Amino acid sequence: AGLTDALGESLRAAFAAHGAAQCGACTPGMIIAAHALLTAQPRPDEAAVRDALGGVLCRCTGYGRIVAAVLAAGQGAALPAGADGTVGSPVPRLDGAAKLTGAEAFGDDVAPPGALVVRVVRSPHAHSGFTLGDLAGGQARHPGVVAVLTAADVPGLNAFGVIPGFIDQPVFAKALVRFRGEAVAAVVGQAQAMAALDLGDFPVTWTPLPALSSMAQALDGAPLHGLRPGNVMCRGLVRRGDAEAGLQASDEVVSLTLETAFVEHAYIEPEAGFAEVVAGRVHIHACTQAPGMDRDSLAQVLALPADAIRIVPTAVGGGFGAKLDLSVQPYIALAALRTGRACRMAYSRSESMQSTTKRHPAQITLTIGAGRDGRLRAMTFDGDFNTGAYASWGPTVANRVPVHASGPYLMPAYRARTRAIHTHNPPSGAFRGFGVPQAAAAQEQALDLMADRLGLDRLEMRILNALDHGQPTVTGQVFASGLGIRACLTALRPAWAAERKAAQDWAAERAAAQDHAAVCAVAQDRAADRAAAGAVAGGRLRRGVGVAAGWYGCGNTSLPNPSTIRAGVTAAGQVVLHQGAVDIGQGSTTVIAQIFAQALGVRLDHVALLGADTDLTPDAGKTSASRQTFVSGNAALRAGADLRAQALRLTNAAPDAVLTFGPGQVTARDAGGLHRAVLPAGPGPYALQAAGTYDPPTRPLDADGQGEPYAQFGTAAHLAVVEVDMALGTVKVLRMVAAHDLGRAINPLLAQGQIEGGIAQGLGMALMEDYLPGRTENLHDYLIPTIGDVPQVETILIEDPDPHGPYGAKGLGEHVLIPTAPAILNAVRDATGVVTTRLPLTPTRLRAALEGQA
Ligand code: FES
Repeated sequence: AGLTDALGESLRAAFAAHGAAQCGACTPGMIIAAHALLTAQPRPDEAAVRDALGGVLCRCTGYGRIVAAVLAAGQGAALPAGADGTVGSPVPRLDGAAKLTGAEAFGDDVAPPGALVVRVVRSPHAHSGFTLGDLAGGQARHPGVVAVLTAADVPGLNAFGVIPGFIDQPVFAKALVRFRGEAVAAVVGQAQAMAALDLGDFPVTWTPLPALSSMAQALDGAPLHGLRPGNVMCRGLVRRGDAEAGLQASDEVVSLTLETAFVEHAYIEPEAGFAEVVAGRVHIHACTQAPGMDRDSLAQVLALPADAIRIVPTAVGGGFGAKLDLSVQPYIALAALRTGRACRMAYSRSESMQSTTKRHPAQITLTIGAGRDGRLRAMTFDGDFNTGAYASWGPTVANRVPVHASGPYLMPAYRARTRAIHTHNPPSGAFRGFGVPQAAAAQEQALDLMADRLGLDRLEMRILNALDHGQPTVTGQVFASGLGIRACLTALRPAWAAERKAAQDWAAERAAAQDHAAVCAVAQDRAADRAAAGAVAGGRLRRGVGVAAGWYGCGNTSLPNPSTIRAGVTAAGQVVLHQGAVDIGQGSTTVIAQIFAQALGVRLDHVALLGADTDLTPDAGKTSASRQTFVSGNAALRAGADLRAQALRLTNAAPDAVLTFGPGQVTARDAGGLHRAVLPAGPGPYALQAAGTYDPPTRPLDADGQGEPYAQFGTAAHLAVVEVDMALGTVKVLRMVAAHDLGRAINPLLAQGQIEGGIAQGLGMALMEDYLPGRTENLHDYLIPTIGDVPQVETILIEDPDPHGPYGAKGLGEHVLIPTAPAILNAVRDATGVVTTRLPLTPTRLRAALEGQA
């Protein structure tokens, strides 16, 4: 992608202007493929672009912006006008240049030359005893091998995890493994020797044991962890009113079950990094979403004080939740401490897929009741979530789902129960939505069934029940402002009406054409044509339109969730932002800088950025739960406002003064004229400095799950148009329209990119993604959406400022896929009548359901 010709330059410019690079891991491949296309075919159409880029996977963007960028570069189209960087302007991402040239340094790009290589020995069995053989001989004597590490080499706690009380995953298993891919040892050595090493020869003897593969088996099986009887790791509950009585009193009741699959994050960059010992401290350079948590967890493993560990996140080639957990970090750190050398590690694709966390498979049963007036009256929800062998973020899923399973509707009586259940599978963890997408896929299908039962329009029934300001959520929380679900749903009305009519017209045209074909075939006595016409007349292709809504509380659930951002002005007048929020492609580096610059009152391009590094940036918390724009954005706003106040005091200027920082001085222009002040000499690097901290106001949930778990909810509604091949069972998504309430779009370009990318992931969850340990451990057998699978996406941004958000902004990262799968499933049912009871809805499953209807 470091193509130096004019075409390369124009592609890079187009990619930047269209927001076509998010994490950037796929970007060099995309640009090279696009360059080859445009060289051979300077003015391609969209189909040609999709064809040429079809071999390159992207997990972040949903492809639409990439296609638009290539078309623009090919047509020499004028790029969008440059944005000024203020809040609300679509400025291209500030960290984009390296992603566009191929110079970006991901986890596997940063190790110094000569670094030793670490490889982990993993279990081939889901459940097995094991004994290690002669470690001092065998592989340890292999030329080039420097060290072999096992549990005996862990100086501190031989376990890691993310939630206090649930730190249960061994760095190295001892005698027993609980999932395929679990680590038992590591070998450290010279790069060439390690590349040639066959880990199949590692001296370990396995004693395979029966595995509890499903939740049903696990509930009746021996506990994986002694303290968790019945393999129930934890439970969640929200109860409001008498749900059973509410169902009894309802005029109509609808029940539905749904089973979902393990979903793999499938970021393009597998886990990677290197560690070294510097002046007695361990420095870790690796891809991560949570540098502060990594440091604290490693301190326990390494038996070192936290300040003896420095975490320097590399560029992250996609995370989506899984890079919140430790991966390579303990192994490279232990190896560096043992050998005194820099040690590096990069997971292979299979290793990444085997050993890292997944989206929880769920088994959901729910019932909703409504009155004849269309108003929802009650709901019960029971969800079991397969949390795999170790806890990871399972407790978060179990707690978050009951708060959200009602959907963004007024639900007078409600009872939602969840359980997280251990099995002999890879740990399930955080994946965009923390269980809410699975719940929404069931609840939003049930809502369609109810609308049909009552003879109501499916969209209008949602609007009728949309949660309004002043009405309690299922946890009893009441928002006076900032709830945008009614606006999102209402915004879909034009597309809903148009697409429903278009689908009817399309069906009528096809029926007329088929009738004509059948008549001709009869007239000419062509038996084969008659049969073909009959098959088509039966409706081989059907179109359907679906709608679904979703909501998501930003930040931790009723837990402290602080973020701190620091900033300073040097004596030379340079404004520096220390911002430790890791940008995993979603754009937080740019958005937080926009907020800070606006609060300080300087141009965005006058701010120098200093990215996450636990030695240099205060803890901005983890990049998860859609919290960085909201929480770190507020911290940045406070830091900027504090610096501004200091500068105004120094210059004795009015609050609305225009500030300019220059060498040795700050000037402020207000109605009274120009004020100058000398920047004071500070003891540190800064003449002026400030730190802002923000922790969202929440209230704990009580035993019935009543309380105020989040300071803000973001809401969304999606519309899907699908075409179903009734003979093959395939589903083609033709169009998506996505309305999102994001309070204030700090950067509409990046917000739209998030929405489009989330929709692609939701489409994958709905139709194709199914992680099966031992069977789909690569990206050939595990399917994610390609450029040919993701349709045109139209985004509608609703901006109703949130009282807690910085400049009114809300988080967005998780919301973007929650309504996608149910909108697609509802469209499939609109086309076929099939209610989806198992995800993904593969062609085989849809065919079986259609045959069951016949
Ligand atoms: Fe394409 Fe991240 S931007 S994989």
